[in-house]
Parts: sequence; C-alpha cells; structure tokens
Amino acid sequence: MNAKITATAHSTPKNVMTNLDLEKLVDTTDDWIRSRTGIVQRHIVSEDEASSDISTRIATSLLEKGGISANDIDLIIIGTVTPDHFTPSTAALVQKNIGAKNAWGFDLSAACSGFLYGLETGANFIASGRHKKVMVIGVDTMTSILDFQDRDTCVIFGDGGGGVILEPTLGKTGIVDSILHMDGSGGDYLIMPGGGSRIPATLKSVDDRQHYIKQDGKTVFKYAVKGMADVSERILSRNDLTGDDIALFIPHQANKRIIDSAAQRCGISEEKVLINIDQYGNTTAGTIPIALNEAFSDNRIKDGDYVLLASFGAGFTWGSILIKWESK
Ligand code: UT7
Repeated sequence: MNAKITATAHSTPKNVMTNLDLEKLVDTTDDWIRSRTGIVQRHIVSEDEASSDISTRIATSLLEKGGISANDIDLIIIGTVTPDHFTPSTAALVQKNIGAKNAWGFDLSAACSGFLYGLETGANFIASGRHKKVMVIGVDTMTSILDFQDRDTCVIFGDGGGGVILEPTLGKTGIVDSILHMDGSGGDYLIMPGGGSRIPATLKSVDDRQHYIKQDGKTVFKYAVKGMADVSERILSRNDLTGDDIALFIPHQANKRIIDSAAQRCGISEEKVLINIDQYGNTTAGTIPIALNEAFSDNRIKDGDYVLLASFGAGFTWGSILIKWESK
C-alpha cells in the first residue's frame, strides 16, 4: 500500500532579515550572498518563538486543509535539528498544542534530509496498514544555532518549515519510490560540536563558540552536487523515467548553484525546477515542505504529475523521493 500526500502547509516567522541587514553584522555584501547562493532574504524567529510554534501553525493548517480532526492523527513525525528541547520532543509539544490525543510521535534528526527521512518513515507506517493518517513536518529554527560572527554560515540559513498529511492509497500513486543514504564519514564537515553528550554545555564550551553550527562550505558543496544528482538520476532510471517525465523537481534549497548543477545533470529543464531560496535561505529540514506547499498552492502540481524531491545535508544524509501525485 502506497502513501499519498493529501494536504500540504508551511509557515515561516514574520520577521525578515535581508542581505543588507547582514551587511551590518558581518563582513559580507548583498552582491556576494546573491551571486554565491541566490539568497536575498530569510525569515527569522522573534525572541519568544521556537520550532514547536512554527510546527503548531503548520499542523493546524494541515488539519484545516485536510478537513480532518486532530483526533484522527495516528502519528506525528518532526524532522528537525533545532528542537525546542532535547526532551520532550517537538512532536510531543505539537501533539499537546493541537490536541491530537490518539497520536504518538517522535523527532527525527537528519538535518537537511529530515523531511525526506520523515516522509519515508511515515510512508512505511502507512504501508504497514496500522496507521491511516500520519503528519510529517520538516522544521528548523537555524538562527538558534547560528553564529552571527561567522560569515561562512550566518548568511545562508533561515527559519521555517512545512509539512504534509500522509494517507493510504490503493493506486500505483503517491510515494512510488525512494532512495535514502547516509555517510557518517562526512560528519565533521557540517557540525554543531557542543551541547550533546560529547561536549555538554559549560562556560568554556560557550566561550569557545561550540554551540554554533560550523561548515566547510566548499567540501559540502562538492558532495551535495554529486549526492543529489547521482541519487536523482538513479531513481529516475530505475523507474524508466527521464528528466522530461518530471513535472516538478523540488530540491533542498542550500545554494542555487548546487540546484542548477544537480538539475542539469539529471536533464531537468530550468522551468521545472522549484527555486525559492531567494525568499527563505536554507531552512534545513524546512526547505522541501515549504517549496512543496508553495508549488501545490500555486497549482504547479496536478494529479498524475511526477514530482521529484531531493536533499543533501549534514551527516552526510541525502536522498530522493519520487511521487506520482494523487491528492484526493
Ligand atoms: O544544507 C546543508 C548543506 N549545505 C550546503 O549544501 C552548503 C554548501 N556550500 C555552499 O553553498 C558554499 O560553499 C558557500 C555558500 C557556503 C560558500 O560559497 P563558496 O563559493 O564555496 O565560497 P568560498 O568558501 O570558496 O569562499 C570564496 C571567497 C573567500 O574569499 P577569498 O579567499 O577568495 O578571498 C571567502 O573568504 O568568499 C569569501 N567569503 C565571503 N565573502 C563575503 C566567504 N563567505 C563570505 C561571505 N561574504 N559571507
């Protein structure tokens, strides 16, 4: 039994930080950020806002759009590397906030691949026949782990997320294939060293700025292009499809140059590639579900269309999911 997406939603904080705002904080320029990444602005949380607040807005909107009651949700999966707390999970906070009294759930840590890992996990719970309605959210509040003295990282990330409701379908539609990967040998290239059991929080760890995300951008860039392109090519070929058969390609939004190279290698023409990094920056687990909701709301996806999702992120984690769209 396949899982199909029956509702999509996204939410980003109201506050917007432009590249010009960043020029005042670090040694950077609007021109450098636009030309090297494609980013023009990003949304950032207010002081009293965290990942569960964004997720609760997404969850509420999913219930409304799907025309379903909170009591009908069996499972809540939240892909995030910026949960409100280590424990309780963000999923538990959302469960309480929306009153999903029959749901269980958990947070899932796979960085920028968090939403794809969540979709695959949710789809398997649907396939088991024991879950009828699964909520999958990808969300990150990256500003909570960004060092605004480090221009290598602080200019590329933003806050926000999106989600979907998964339900069973008996057709050969919905999530028709997925390939997911992990290679822990890339772990040091994109890492938040402190705060876990390896380097618990101390005055020294804070002084040493260990609680911020650190990235070797050049290395991650290289692996991201190859990873997203290889896995997307592979999922197309094993389903006897080419780039021409894809109605919409929704890649993780980390850098417009990475997206352009990956799409080109898969033979997917420019007009079929969803790019919104200019508006949101890299929201980690949030990028793909935000883009998916924008595309569906803008009528860029219709029943029968093949939609290809692809991600690459810290871990390293990466993957591709192929959907034959069926919404009702
Ligand atoms: O989502 C998870 C996965 N993450 C990714 O996929 C991110 C992958 N990496 C990237 O997107 C890019 O590597 C970055 C956007 C992070 C950096 O772009 P780049 O083209 O790889 O720049 P670079 O690190 O090679 O730096 C080029 C130059 C350097 O100056 P010199 O040595 O040529 O004089 C940097 O010091 O740009 C300088 N630079 C900056 N200049 C202005 C680096 N960051 C900045 C900045 N503003 N923010």
